[in-house]
Amino acid sequence: MNVEGRPRHTIEPLPGRRAVQILDQTLLPHEIVWRELTSATEAAHAIRVMQVRGAPLIGATAAHGLAFALAADPSDAALASAHAELLATRPTAVNLRWALDRVHARVAPLPPAARADAAWAEAAQICADDVATNAAIGLHGLELFRSVFAAKPAAERPVLNVLTHCNAGWLGCVDWGTALAPVYQAHDAGLPVHVWVSETRPRNQGASLTAWELTQHGVPHTLVVDNAAGHLLQRGLVDLCIVGADRVAANGDVANKIGTYLKALAARAHNVPFYVALPLSTFDPTTADGVRDIPIEQRSAREVTHAVGNDARGARTEVLLTTPTTPARNDAFDVTPAALVTALITESGACPATPAALARLVAKTRAAHTG
Ligand code: MRU
Repeated sequence: MNVEGRPRHTIEPLPGRRAVQILDQTLLPHEIVWRELTSATEAAHAIRVMQVRGAPLIGATAAHGLAFALAADPSDAALASAHAELLATRPTAVNLRWALDRVHARVAPLPPAARADAAWAEAAQICADDVATNAAIGLHGLELFRSVFAAKPAAERPVLNVLTHCNAGWLGCVDWGTALAPVYQAHDAGLPVHVWVSETRPRNQGASLTAWELTQHGVPHTLVVDNAAGHLLQRGLVDLCIVGADRVAANGDVANKIGTYLKALAARAHNVPFYVALPLSTFDPTTADGVRDIPIEQRSAREVTHAVGNDARGARTEVLLTTPTTPARNDAFDVTPAALVTALITESGACPATPAALARLVAKTRAAHTG
């Protein structure tokens, strides 16, 4: 996707060096700053402080972190300790474990001297796969967008109104995005799409990231406060909702940014389709029941009691919204029960959020990969 008119990825290898650069998302939309990562500790820090975020990008960054660790020390002990350090950075997005396990499985059988190169190659492959996967999600989603658009009464057809939450765009991935991939495909294909962007307190991924990347690509959009979703749905101003996921459990329950569940409830109340777009690396068959079992990241209360932005002179500023002693709680994610999800959209196609349909899709994907 484009940054200042140039196609970029959120994580890019630096030519001729074992280093990557990442777009620092904590400074967007005000500043475009690329930061270099050269060690596992720097990669872990970037994930923890959310310079990079979004389930697929967290995985891709962690994979590079493991490759950096092995370049410094390819022993079994270093492999185990870097895997553990990176895995501890964020608890909900399962792509983190998936990517680390993928690199681990590739390098563990090798002699130590061969591990760093193999890990570097595997991390690069994870990035390349992410781009192809998300492009495929976009095309499968586009079919659903087209059918929702075609079902609209002719008089209301000039625009397809899409509601999204958080940032599940290319900033949360290596490219394209998950929930926003169909939006970009639709826009590029000439379908008149307009996006309601939910601000996504407390970190404001909608306001700061989604609105920014849609602007970079020229997609019409409007920012709304999180609490506007029910009202927009009730007024018939939303044709479909689409969000990303941080983990989908075996029973089809979906963990995503806090506030997703309320939007799914409101969408069901107004008979509006609620889609979840995800790469199959976000599906976690080892978590049986999402509502019961998915760990929810608890973040600092300061994100709730304070707001961060730039002042009139462009200086980064943090302001207190509450009394200095107001207690706050900050659950970063919630879980939407499978029953509220109209369909899951993956790189292998769309399916109902049921254990049987998910199992069939995973089996079909495995069969396609093995031959
Ligand atoms: O806390 P974040 O910003 O990492 O949360 C991100 C989300 O909830 C995204 O919707 C999800 O990871 C999908 S990203 C393509």
